[in-house]
Amino acid sequence: MGVITTAALSKSYGQVHALADLTVDVGEGVTGLVGANGAGKSTLIKILLGLLSPTSGSATVLGHDIAREGDQIRQVVGYMPEHECLPPDVRCIDFVVHMGRMSGLPPAAARERAADVLRHVGLAEERYRLMGGYSTGMKQRAKLAQALVHDPALVLLDEPTNGLDPAARDDMLGLVQRIGGDFGIPVLVTSHLMGELERISDHVVVLDGGRLLRSEATDTFLADTGVVLVEVHAADGDDDAAQRALGEALAAAGLSCRPHGALVAIDPIAGEGVDPALAHDRLRDLVRDTAADLGVGLVRIQPQRGHLEDVFREEVAS
Ligand SMILES: Nc1ncnc2c1ncn2[C@@H]1O[C@H](COP(=O)(O)OP(=O)(O)OP(=O)(O)O)[C@@H](O)[C@H]1O
Ligand SMILES: [Mg+2]
Repeated sequence: MGVITTAALSKSYGQVHALADLTVDVGEGVTGLVGANGAGKSTLIKILLGLLSPTSGSATVLGHDIAREGDQIRQVVGYMPEHECLPPDVRCIDFVVHMGRMSGLPPAAARERAADVLRHVGLAEERYRLMGGYSTGMKQRAKLAQALVHDPALVLLDEPTNGLDPAARDDMLGLVQRIGGDFGIPVLVTSHLMGELERISDHVVVLDGGRLLRSEATDTFLADTGVVLVEVHAADGDDDAAQRALGEALAAAGLSCRPHGALVAIDPIAGEGVDPALAHDRLRDLVRDTAADLGVGLVRIQPQRGHLEDVFREEVAS
């Protein structure tokens, strides 16, 4: 049984198809749900929580049917909503204890768990302050804490990095990764920034206009592209000229290459019946010999790895 399974799930608002025929499985670990603004991420999360009914199709969350067992789902799932939902005139500690009590924890356990999760998200010192005076980063942490207080069996995090500066964003991504890794709780986390989840996700689901574009292990997404990047150094210090000379010489030898910042990017040797491993070795030999002939120093030869953003751009363009 998957953690989340959907079958031909659709949600329409009049002419707008927020979700269209979505069939996807989400398993253990951290799953990144990415897509541009309006792709249908929040709609999917609200349907999975039983807060919104689909127009058609079905889904289960931890084995519970979304149509009939919304209550059971919400009892065992932690949810961090996208928009602000914190009462401004309440102390953070009181709010998180209250949310723990609402999920069925006895008073003492709720207080203990609240203190634990607030320490975990880095709000230990500010926990007695009214949340109306919190910064955006602190509000996001408080929202995460209330999603974790009842020790959920699954957490759904809707844009936890929204509004955060780069350092706070990294901290938040680290926290999300620890939920999946250290605590072993499956996580479905959304972002409209394609690239930011690739570092912490085991699996990535890409939505585009309510449709499923890809669902794949992150490693597969980011696999070696076969392109090799080369950095050269000239004895006279003119590295640009050395880079140009190497590019021209490799092109003359029949390779397809282009400048890539200060590096030369070389496409893999392809063709009918070419063994990729042999082609790879031949490419490296050619680069080494050509550099030696030109008298330029090789600083490094490295494989170019893909990025989620590139994959997404290619898929949408095609
Ligand atoms: N209550 C509603 N009434 C009408 N249209 C809606 C409603 N809720 C969502 N939509 C539409 O459904 C589509 C998907 O919206 P959704 O909020 O799920 O996207 P999202 O991927 O979460 O976007 P974002 O990254 O901006 O949060 C959008 O076109 C949106 O305008
Ligand atoms: Mg959203």
